[in-house]
Parts: sequence; structure tokens; C-alpha cells
Amino acid sequence: MTGAREPAAGASGGEAEDFRKTVLRQIRDLTADNQRLLQSVVRSEKRFRTLAKSVWHVQEEERRRLARDLHDGLGQTLTALANQLQRLHDDARDASNLGLQHRLNDALELTRGALRDTRELSRLLRPTLLDDLGLDAALEWLARNLSERTGLHISLQSGLEEQRLHPDVETLLFRVTQEALTNVIRHSGASHARIVIRHAPMLLILRIEDDGQGFEIAQMTQAERSAGSSGLRGMRDRAELFGGRVEILSAPGQGTVVQLTLTLDAPDAEPDQNPS
Ligand SMILES: Nc1ncnc2c1ncn2[C@@H]1O[C@H](COP(=O)(O)OP(=O)(O)OP(=O)(O)O)[C@@H](O)[C@H]1O
Ligand SMILES: [Mg+2]
Repeated sequence: MTGAREPAAGASGGEAEDFRKTVLRQIRDLTADNQRLLQSVVRSEKRFRTLAKSVWHVQEEERRRLARDLHDGLGQTLTALANQLQRLHDDARDASNLGLQHRLNDALELTRGALRDTRELSRLLRPTLLDDLGLDAALEWLARNLSERTGLHISLQSGLEEQRLHPDVETLLFRVTQEALTNVIRHSGASHARIVIRHAPMLLILRIEDDGQGFEIAQMTQAERSAGSSGLRGMRDRAELFGGRVEILSAPGQGTVVQLTLTLDAPDAEPDQNPS
């Protein structure tokens, strides 16, 4: 675009009017260019979000498949093995072979332990509860499971009242809670944690609070930048895909709060069905 040349001093009214029109036209052209650029940036961002959501869907689908394979494949084999061992154990008992009975009992215990681990791993990968009964049931199970394994007391206060949300939103909230509680267990030394869900017609707030040692947020930013630390960054990235925001509140000795805020009726809270 060529620049308008300013009329010399003492130029006629006509020249000044031409100059004014040229400048106005150039401003209009510039505004239109900016508008086009902005639209193209918005389109690119939408494409990027759609793509990132597709990758996320593929990951979740893969976890679902792996969870099913573990449960139905390895799980069933271990169940059959436990049944066989039980029968052999009963035979040894009938034959009053005490030594063999003890060894078979040990083998049975090991097999039952492996079966429990397999089922637990399958549920952690993708709890069928989340698809079948929704977020409240899945979070209750997660809290109970982690409490039993670690001794951390975890309570759940949900304003959802078992109401179902969009499946993607339910998965997002479950994964954020899972990651935040894993951090509480690994880093905080807390004795209590609380999951709180507040639900208003257009707004959803999820908080995971702990009474642990807390940490310097500046240190976390450093840890996030380092290659070995991806939990909190992943949480933020996923929330952003749905137009949400994750905030971390913490200080040494003050515990930690992870808060996810999501506007439910935002277009991006719904999954993009068209990958265009
Ligand atoms: N609830 C918490 N209490 C205390 N410190 C925490 C808590 N949550 C996070 N942190 C601190 O923030 C850091 C970053 O957490 P982040 O989840 O991103 O990474 P990570 O847990 O170290 O590794 P991973 O990638 O396996 O999640 C942690 O290393 C820890 O120092
Ligand atoms: Mg982590």
C-alpha cells in the first residue's frame, strides 16, 4: 500500500480534501487487512484446539481399550488360574497333604493379589464407573481407592447431585482430580484432602484442597519448565482446550488448592465434532 503524500502548505481546499479521502481509504484498507488477519488467527486457533481435542480423544479411547483388555483378558485368565489353584488346594486338603496345601495356598494368595492389582490398574486407566454412572460415582471410587492405599483422608463434596455432564467435561474433571490427588500424595505430606464441586447453571468450579506442606509457586513454575514435570502444565493445557482455567494457590506451610473453573455454556465446553 502506498503512503498518502501530505499537501504542501498553502495547497488548495481540493487537494486537502483528496488527501483526507486517501488517508481514510488507507485506514479502511488497513482495518480490513487487520480483520482478515484476526479471522485467520481465530480460524487457526480453532483448528489447533480441534486437533488437540482429537489427540486427547484418541488417548482416552486407547486407555479405555487397554483398561478393557486388562480386565477381560489378563483379569479373566487370573480368575481361571485362581479357580484351578483353589481346586488343587482342596484336593491336597482331602489327601491330607499339608505341605502341598500350604504351597498352593501361597500360590492362591499371590494370584488373588495379582488379580486385585490388575483390576485396580484397569480402573485407574479408565474407570467404567465414569461412563456408566458419571462423575460423582467415579470420584467417590477414586477417593476411596486412594484413601485405602495411602491412608490420606479424602472427602468429596459435590454439588452435582449425580447430574451428568458432557462426557468430555466429566473426563476432564476426573483427570484433573486424579492428577491433583496424585500430587497431594507424592509431594504434600498432607493428612486430609477435599474435593469440592460447585455447580451453577453456567459455571462449574472444581477444587482439590490439601492441608500439606504447600510450596513456592515460583519453584513450581521452574519445575513445570523442566522436562521431568508435566502434571500441572498438562492440567492447564487440557482445561484451556475447553475454555477453562486452572489456578494453583499455595505457600509453604499453607497447604495447596488446585482450582479449575469452567464455563459450561461456552462453545468450547462442547466437543468440536467437525475436525475442519
Ligand atoms: N499438592 C502439592 N503439595 C506440595 N507440592 C506440590 C503439590 N502439587 C504440586 N507440587 C509441587 O509442584 C511441582 C510440579 O508438579 P507437577 O505435577 O507439575 O510435576 P510432578 O508431580 O513433579 O511430576 P509429574 O510430571 O509426574 O506430575 C511438584 O514437583 C511439587 O514440587
Ligand atoms: Mg504431578
